[in-house]
Amino acid sequence: MIGTPLSANATKVMLLGSGELGKEVIIALQRLGVEVIAVDRYKNAPGHQVAHRAHVIDMTDADALKALVDQVKPHFIVPEIEALNTQALAEIEAGGVTVVPSVRAVQLTMNREGIRRLAAEELGLPTSPYAFARSETELQAAIDAGIGYPCFIKPTMSSSGKGQSRITQASEVKTAWEYAASGGRVNQGVVIVEGQIDFDYEITLLTVRAKNAQGQLETYFCAPIGHVQQHGDYVESWQPQAMQPKALENAQQVARKVTEALGGQGLFGVELFVKGEQVWFSEVSPRPHDTGMVTMCTQRLNEFELHGRAILGLPVDVSQRDAGASAVIYGGADAASLEYHGLEAALAVPDSEIRLFGKPESFVRRRMGVALATAENTELARERAKQAAALVTPKVAG
Ligand SMILES: Nc1ncnc2c1ncn2[C@@H]1O[C@H](COP(=O)(O)OP(=O)(O)OP(=O)(O)O)[C@@H](O)[C@H]1O
Ligand SMILES: [Mg+2]
Repeated sequence: MIGTPLSANATKVMLLGSGELGKEVIIALQRLGVEVIAVDRYKNAPGHQVAHRAHVIDMTDADALKALVDQVKPHFIVPEIEALNTQALAEIEAGGVTVVPSVRAVQLTMNREGIRRLAAEELGLPTSPYAFARSETELQAAIDAGIGYPCFIKPTMSSSGKGQSRITQASEVKTAWEYAASGGRVNQGVVIVEGQIDFDYEITLLTVRAKNAQGQLETYFCAPIGHVQQHGDYVESWQPQAMQPKALENAQQVARKVTEALGGQGLFGVELFVKGEQVWFSEVSPRPHDTGMVTMCTQRLNEFELHGRAILGLPVDVSQRDAGASAVIYGGADAASLEYHGLEAALAVPDSEIRLFGKPESFVRRRMGVALATAENTELARERAKQAAALVTPKVAG
């Protein structure tokens, strides 16, 4: 049952975080007649621009979060970001609001220590060798004790490559420690060091926990998404990533185990490294994944629609329609607002689409939009998406 928006029986969903991914979740929910309340830390966030109502609060502030939930009375809370006050969310969940997929999943995945220990130590999934360090001395000791070089050093609470570095020798440990210890969001001063996995390619396996037509929870897998990362941030993705059957089977098994352990209903982005038939678990988002934006042009239901349906207890269809690719459009400048030129040329690229997120402020490396393209195969789709993205030229307004 879905009610009528803006009336007493409305089905209300509150988004915590309203960036480009939240914006698409909101659009998907709006299409099903859901009333959507978008929350972010700044005014005119992408999702604010398409929701029924918009709020600006500090989502790490327990009182602010609880007060807003009291006022809005949502049926579902959909976290889009990691920087949330999970203590407050736990109280809200205990009060009967569904937090997607669950507060426990949100808590475990926002902290690299939580999810890594769950995956490697409780579930026994293959991961890179790792250790946690609370000082530069501990970090050096962990590397010397077996992690070795090259290795990755990351804050335990960060995303999009913030505070992350890859080092190849002892002389770089100090800088990496300082960068990671100051780059984290919440529990500053705790870092994870991971040995480098020498993978052939990496994928995001979008995994959906949703009710089937009989009302039972089932796990569904989208076709694997390949991607390229620069400085810990994705620049290009494509679907499907060709995989050996055994590797795909292993990937699905890892994704099933980790999402079952996290529980709840919704879509998850499971990040995996692959070499031959071997698969390593890297991390997981309990929500749509940035590399999954490619599904806006490749799947019958994109990852945002799948998330929306799964949350509401509706049946899903993960089938892929076309091979396709996405390429990121960066701001290229620090500016209050941008003008996007070259759209005529970009959209003349065959089977291409452009999404501009409408972000009110630009930074050099801020993701402002994405180009999408389909083709007979992923190679051509990647060429088209990159070409379309490159033809969009942001300029500083005024
Ligand atoms: N142990 C590792 N071995 C090899 N490559 C790694 C390792 N850890 C990280 N990387 C590379 O760095 C990228 C970013 O790492 P990770 O996903 O842990 O960071 P992140 O900040 O959460 O990034 P995002 O939020 O964009 O997913 C990976 O996708 C991979 O390309
Ligand atoms: Mg990642």
